[in-house]
Amino acid sequence: MNLPQLPQLPTAIMLSATLILSACGGGNSEPLPLPSKLVIGHRGASALRPEHTIAAYTKAIEIGADVIEPDLVSTKDGVLVARHENEISGTTNVADKAEFASRKTTKKIDGISVSGWFTEDFTLAEIKTLRAKERIPANRPENAKFDGQFEIPTLQEVIDLAKTKSYETGRTIGIYPETKHPSYFKSINLPLEKRLVDMLHANGYRGKSAPVFIQSFEVSNLKEIRKLTELPIVQLLSAAGQPEDFRLTGNPRSYADIATAAGLLEVATYANGVGPSKDMVIPRNAENNLGTPTNLIRDAHAAKLVVHPYTFRPENPFLPANLRKGNIASLTERGDLAAELKIFLNAGVDGFFTDDPSVGRTAMDSYLGKK
Ligand code: G3P
Ligand code: CA
Repeated sequence: MNLPQLPQLPTAIMLSATLILSACGGGNSEPLPLPSKLVIGHRGASALRPEHTIAAYTKAIEIGADVIEPDLVSTKDGVLVARHENEISGTTNVADKAEFASRKTTKKIDGISVSGWFTEDFTLAEIKTLRAKERIPANRPENAKFDGQFEIPTLQEVIDLAKTKSYETGRTIGIYPETKHPSYFKSINLPLEKRLVDMLHANGYRGKSAPVFIQSFEVSNLKEIRKLTELPIVQLLSAAGQPEDFRLTGNPRSYADIATAAGLLEVATYANGVGPSKDMVIPRNAENNLGTPTNLIRDAHAAKLVVHPYTFRPENPFLPANLRKGNIASLTERGDLAAELKIFLNAGVDGFFTDDPSVGRTAMDSYLGKK
């Protein structure tokens, strides 16, 4: 991996810094592999800072994430930036900017009519004038206090952060980039795949053990990516519906079909893991508590696929009924996320996407017998 230039330092400090660089993949050595069980900071530490900001990713690393997760969309001038959707009024102040009022429009994205402002209609310079805001202030009012403070980061800035923090902490900080709306971006001549792979390769991420996982809810673009790189790939699985590229091509198969033992063997021809909705791993029962695990972990492992379910959130509304705490109807109060995570770890998951990596770290360390 390319790591930032070392500042001029005394020789002894330079030597130890070089050792850290080496441990993190600097110099000529291979990067240290990521742990086999991963705490993945979902959109950063999105329970603690507005999602997909350098502040959110930094917080995630500081509180124990092994890996940070940028969702990726494209600007008009072809720069990959970190947003969950290409429509950005839910997570930025674009609607308050008079100079961009005329850019508001309605488009069909993945078969759904969406109104707002779209990254593909803005240059990076214009995107950089915007500021992030909290997506779900009703659940995360503390995050909303940061509204208006943080820029929208580019993928390169996220990579730079992972490298800098690897250097500073002596841990290898991985990245988990997701192509968002890949068929749509292809349809408007802003395909994501090659730009993503080229950028990863240019930053030194190469080979099967590199600290990166490329993810997508679509299938054909992951198969395309597999032809471009050996880097680890993860097929995302939704609890309902089918991949958008299947819908577009009239393929009737659903995510449920992909999650069968036979479907997972096919996934293993182009991917190294699956990222299922947590409900596909341990569904809720009639009381809205965690029920009986499905065969997904067993079947995925039989196909030599790792399993990284999403999304583990600390607030009561996102937790099983019996793990909620305090006022169970509260939108903001936190329940026992660590207990939920321990149940999934005991079921055999290889990592998890969580909005609060500090709770994730605690649960993981307890599971691993470190605390
Ligand atoms: O990528 C894993 C998880 O983040 C998928 O859900 O909608 O948060 O991107 P989403
Ligand atoms: Ca994601």
